[in-house]
Amino acid sequence: MSQKIAVVTGGNKGIGFAIVKALCKELQNGIVYLTSRNEERGKAAVEELKKEGLDPHFHQLDIDSSESIDRLRDFLKSTHGGLDILVNNAAIAYNYKKNDTTPFSVQAKISIETNYTGTLNVCHALFPLIRSHGRVCHLTSMLGALMYKKLSPKLQQAFKQAKTEEDVNKLMADFVTSAEKGTLEEGYAGSAYCTSKAGVITITRIQAAAMSADTSRQDILINCCCPGYVDTDMTSHKGTKTPDEGAITPVYCALFPSAGPNGKHLSNKSVVETW
Ligand SMILES: NC(=O)c1ccc[n+]([C@@H]2O[C@H](COP(=O)([O-])OP(=O)(O)OC[C@H]3O[C@@H](n4cnc5c(N)ncnc54)[C@H](OP(=O)(O)O)[C@@H]3O)[C@@H](O)[C@H]2O)c1
Repeated sequence: MSQKIAVVTGGNKGIGFAIVKALCKELQNGIVYLTSRNEERGKAAVEELKKEGLDPHFHQLDIDSSESIDRLRDFLKSTHGGLDILVNNAAIAYNYKKNDTTPFSVQAKISIETNYTGTLNVCHALFPLIRSHGRVCHLTSMLGALMYKKLSPKLQQAFKQAKTEEDVNKLMADFVTSAEKGTLEEGYAGSAYCTSKAGVITITRIQAAAMSADTSRQDILINCCCPGYVDTDMTSHKGTKTPDEGAITPVYCALFPSAGPNGKHLSNKSVVETW
């Protein structure tokens, strides 16, 4: 079996750290890159896993920085000639932070920039490197799916009928504009985090269809999944699952054998219908 190369974004803590840990255990013949925007935090996380007898490698990656994304792409290309597993875990959330006074318009802009656009930029750079039998998993949230029900009927249709990346980009940009203008009541629901994750859920279907049409590579599966409500910094440690439990479904998606789901949203290792 050829060596598998895996990359996990935001791997220095929380669910990302647990995903790196699980992949290091599961991939018999592979290298798992724990990436982190902060080099010190990332290397400390690698050292922690080394104490458990695991051997993750480190690479810096800030999904908000195109230079950083390009450096990782160039490194993977020159060192391994490709990539087999990509777990887009990195994200931010204002939801759970008590007494956060960040204006909603700023929350909207920053959340879409990181959670949606940053994730998409990582895909643009790394998808050309994904080899046949590759697996991609984006971390999303059932909250994104629940938010869909709160959208105006017109926007629900727009999410459902989105066929191209540009369609989804427009939905995300319109959300930021309506947050800036204070006109959310015209259709968007009031959560920046949930809207960003709804964007990722929608783009997953579009990416999977586009990848399937690429006849130069076979059996690449692109899915997204909710890890559940997990005890991490993001939830101010209110989540009921441990990070290791939160990693179960993302790792399941990252290691699908052939003929797994494609373009789907999963929760608890099962496909959930969204829109
Ligand atoms: N926890 C839950 O209950 C829950 C539920 C549903 C979905 N999720 C999703 O699961 C994923 C992991 O969440 P978590 O709970 O583990 O969150 P977390 O503990 O807050 O960790 C988030 C990770 O993302 C990194 N990150 C943020 N912005 C980044 C950027 N621009 N570039 C690179 N890394 C960046 C953070 O790095 P720093 O340490 O440098 O900040 C950290 O490593 C997220 O996608 C989240 O939306 C979580």
